[in-house]
Amino acid sequence: MIIAIDGPAAAGKGTLARNIAAAFDFAYLDTGSLYRATAKKVLDKAIDPDDAQACTVVALTLHPEDLTVEGLRTEIVGQVASKVSVIPDVRAALLRFQRDFAAEPPGGKAGAVLDGRDVGTVVCPEAEVKFFITASSEVRAERRFKELREAGENVIYARVLAEMRERDERDSTRAVAPLKPADDATVIDTSGLDADQVFEQARSIVAAKRP
Ligand code: DC
Repeated sequence: MIIAIDGPAAAGKGTLARNIAAAFDFAYLDTGSLYRATAKKVLDKAIDPDDAQACTVVALTLHPEDLTVEGLRTEIVGQVASKVSVIPDVRAALLRFQRDFAAEPPGGKAGAVLDGRDVGTVVCPEAEVKFFITASSEVRAERRFKELREAGENVIYARVLAEMRERDERDSTRAVAPLKPADDATVIDTSGLDADQVFEQARSIVAAKRP
């Protein structure tokens, strides 16, 4: 069983995906980590994120251990991830890994949960259950602001909000695989909900669809 969870930054996709994977004993893939790992290498090697060819080489030569290095969750890596993810050849390079994970979840699990921007629309259009998790940009910026502060980053709210809007705009308007709900996705707005309430809604939908 494949479960696709898409939505903008800091809407609560990751928390929901991990909770669903744990509840049903499914494998979990944070597809953003592939774009973040590519971005981190682009930054470390001082490659221009607009250099499509050089960024594509990085994406094509990613190793599984690159997905777990420190420093993937910083704001700058998120911004550069959003930039490199506009490049069609970077997206194509990362597609195979995501599809293989969904088709054959590691550890012989009976299902896979993938979260990202285009899982329900492009990576796994055949997914049995699709969610689009969203929230107002103010609520998402507030959550990301708290996360960054707790991680020791010295950020200001107005800047986080501005960067969040910039990233939303880029992710939603790119030519290839833009952020948008699949036609058959269940949309959940998490602005006024806590993680448990979101999980409960989603859990009952997954349970009803389970073979
Ligand atoms: O979910 P995240 O913040 O870790 O994602 C970082 C960036 O990666 C996001 O701004 C756009 C890109 N991304 C994507 O284009 N497609 C995905 N399936 C996941 C992430």
